[in-house]
Amino acid sequence: MPDKMHLLAFLMHTPINHMTMSWADPADRQADGLGSIAHWQNLAQTLERGCFDGMFFADVPAVYDHYQDNTDVAIRHGVNWPTHDPVALIGIMAAATRHLGIATTVSLASLHPFLAVRSMSTLDYLSQGRVGWNIVTGNARSEYRAMGLDVVEHDKRYDRADEYMQVCYALWHGIPEDAVVADREKGIYADPAKIEKIAFEGEYFRCHATPSVLPSPQGRPVLFQAGSSGRGQRFAVEHADVIFAIQPDLPRMQTFMQNLRKTAASAGRASDTRVTFAVQPFVADSLEAAQEKRDAMLAKIPLEAALTRISGTFGVDLDTVDIDKPLQEITTQASQGLVAAMSSMFNDRNITLREAVRLSGLAGLIPQILGTPERIADQLETLWRETGCHGFNLTPALVPGGYEDFVDHVVPILQQRGIFRTEYESTTLRGNLVG
Ligand SMILES: Cc1cc2nc3c(=O)[nH]c(=O)nc-3n(C[C@H](O)[C@H](O)[C@H](O)COP(=O)(O)O)c2cc1C
Repeated sequence: MPDKMHLLAFLMHTPINHMTMSWADPADRQADGLGSIAHWQNLAQTLERGCFDGMFFADVPAVYDHYQDNTDVAIRHGVNWPTHDPVALIGIMAAATRHLGIATTVSLASLHPFLAVRSMSTLDYLSQGRVGWNIVTGNARSEYRAMGLDVVEHDKRYDRADEYMQVCYALWHGIPEDAVVADREKGIYADPAKIEKIAFEGEYFRCHATPSVLPSPQGRPVLFQAGSSGRGQRFAVEHADVIFAIQPDLPRMQTFMQNLRKTAASAGRASDTRVTFAVQPFVADSLEAAQEKRDAMLAKIPLEAALTRISGTFGVDLDTVDIDKPLQEITTQASQGLVAAMSSMFNDRNITLREAVRLSGLAGLIPQILGTPERIADQLETLWRETGCHGFNLTPALVPGGYEDFVDHVVPILQQRGIFRTEYESTTLRGNLVG
């Protein structure tokens, strides 16, 4: 267990963060800020003021299209539509900060590893080692459709991703630190003998190349992963510096950690399983005030918006499912993963799928922690101590207000308790987050 907890802001480059319809709340600025460089830079500076390790963007490049087999509801209610490229934000936010890490998801499904490494490592180099990359295999049908590709079957996606990473590592390791001499008198920029050329011929990828992007002070981008299946977890422990997870409560977070440690131990990676759990903090003057605000926001989420979101996440068209049945009675083959996740989220309560989906409009399957700053600090500390997790991905409903509340009122309490940094240890994301 680390001696300090680590904090990442968890966002999307869309009109919402993780609360459906948050863009429609008068206090929210994310939709207005989508096209504003100042919005993103101010947010990055707020997080740096709060000593956050970094910010992390989830991303699905093409809008979810499962519900009613089209994207109309997603467009109508701004459910992750538009979905702008978060990679474009890295340079903008790095330019306004000095320590904050900026991590984003880039799916391995449709971008060749040579181009992905070129883009992410260039930003890592420019930011002096502050970039992170969430290496998702890409599970959205819409992404494959947009690229004109056939959807790849689940386990094969991870086999392909293992090979993808081999190409990335070869590109990252190909330029040693002393390769560039930039000797102006002799007119020698670098020693070609020191650059390791790549001749990769795999089952899924070919890459014959000279590595072309210089390493940053942290070497390569910090790698994140969030696979939750057995195969997904094996991929995660093999490659990720930090693993993201969503679990609904303390006991399930503990079980997740135990299972992951077993997977890591069998892969020989036991000493470095760092997990950050997603939570949605709701800071207010009292628990009642937070609950009231939460309930008012929930009441404004149209059911079809929540259905679109969950349909997309789980790859099921919920328009074809009888949502008025109790959750446990839903038996369609495609939705078993959904039923298991929903049952877990709602503690096996006997509710209908309609109700479960309605409630999930608030934060997907991410647990909420509500109340006064003191209460939120207490809960984070308990989760951190009792699970041995590395830290949290915080995704407040309203942006930037939710982050400002957290930085101004919760961070000082965590700092007073000595469980969160008061200044950055390093100028790189790896140095701060991984140590
Ligand atoms: C915290 C968290 C963040 C995730 N972010 C993304 C993302 O940005 N893009 C994406 O395509 N999938 C994302 N996922 C989905 C995972 O990459 C993965 O597909 C999912 O957890 C299912 O895992 P499995 O395929 O191993 O069952 C995320 C999952 C979690 C838990």
